[in-house]
Amino acid sequence: MSVKKVRVFLKDRTYDIVIGRRVLKEGRSLLRSLALGHDAIVITNPTLHKLYKETIKDIFRNCASSMRIELVPDSERAKSFQVLTGLLDRIAKFDKNRRIFIAAFGGGVIGDLAGFTAAIYKRGVPYIQIPTTLLAQVDSAIGGKVAVDLPIAKNLAGAFYQPRIVLSDTSVLGTLPDRQIRNGLAEVIKYAVIKDPWLFQFLENNRDRLLGLDEAALESIVYRCSVIKAKVVASDEFDNKGVRVILNYGHTIGHAIESACGYSTRYNHGEAIAVGMVTAARMALMLGLIKRHDELRIESLIRYYGLPTLIKGLKLSLIYNAYLHDKKFIRAKNRLVLPTKIGSVKVVEGISDAIVKRAITERMVRGG
Ligand SMILES: NC(=O)c1ccc[n+]([C@@H]2O[C@H](COP(=O)([O-])OP(=O)(O)OC[C@H]3O[C@@H](n4cnc5c(N)ncnc54)[C@H](O)[C@@H]3O)[C@@H](O)[C@H]2O)c1
Ligand SMILES: [Zn+2]
Repeated sequence: MSVKKVRVFLKDRTYDIVIGRRVLKEGRSLLRSLALGHDAIVITNPTLHKLYKETIKDIFRNCASSMRIELVPDSERAKSFQVLTGLLDRIAKFDKNRRIFIAAFGGGVIGDLAGFTAAIYKRGVPYIQIPTTLLAQVDSAIGGKVAVDLPIAKNLAGAFYQPRIVLSDTSVLGTLPDRQIRNGLAEVIKYAVIKDPWLFQFLENNRDRLLGLDEAALESIVYRCSVIKAKVVASDEFDNKGVRVILNYGHTIGHAIESACGYSTRYNHGEAIAVGMVTAARMALMLGLIKRHDELRIESLIRYYGLPTLIKGLKLSLIYNAYLHDKKFIRAKNRLVLPTKIGSVKVVEGISDAIVKRAITERMVRGG
């Protein structure tokens, strides 16, 4: 099997990310060797079930004595307490004298929900991640942050709970809508800016292959990003050592944009952080932290992938208030991740409101 493995080193919670084009076809032996349990509960949604019912059956045919599929609604709606409690109830009814394990088959929504379910059911049962979106393969399936949303904010009820393995099969990305591919590519650009000049150049040189879903090209980027995320997570599993924060590049302003448009489909997460990354690069330029040439390269790459670099149809006050709320919520002083060159960032605290406001204003489309 032609696969690449990346290990996430976390003492007794160490696990592998297995990346390749035939991972799901060949993954059964990997799962058997992990001895996860006898009874698999696969959490997925109707969209994925329709596309991959047979694939799911195949994966678990020989590595579990029984398999039960749990369908939850498509999209962010699934990350709610209502869906979670329904799921826990059905799992508890099924789990009479069984040894169950949970499998997340889906994007970040399914991964976060299934992981949180696994974390709290009987104080923790084993679970595995089978990410099916680019965003989930490069980001959400790795690192053990699992959560559901509360009405007041996203991801507010959660835990750190690591999967036993992550199976990233790049062939499932073939059915992903184009907008979802670009959504994930925004996170890939993030990794390139914060840690990987080689990846940045690869993105500059391989746009058509990537947007055309060339499997070898997708495999390369999923691998590079997994290596970076695995390292960052291994040095800061619980996000309390100031290492994991660099993954937030573009996210402070990005979250403010998502929140200002009420998490509607106007800006998906990748689109919002695309603008956030350009805005943070501009702040870095204003503070003399980055050269104009590198700042331009970041903006050009984001635009080259058809991701937005400007904010349309939103008022500055809405975005700014959302940003302030976020700022207050975390700590009194703001804390932004700013690029210093391609492949390197700096965490900067206490940036003046004037600079933040000016950088956002420059991104606004007048009358938009
Ligand atoms: N835990 C973390 O560290 C972390 C990190 C980043 C994001 N997240 C979370 O991830 C979520 C977003 O994840 P996402 O962007 O993957 O969105 P998603 O899970 O909603 O998936 C996007 C859409 O694509 C569909 N889909 C998924 N795979 C498909 C495939 N192979 N073919 C066709 N359609 C497919 C889904 O049904 C859905 O409609 C958010 O809830 C966010 O909070 C978590
Ligand atoms: Zn993100």
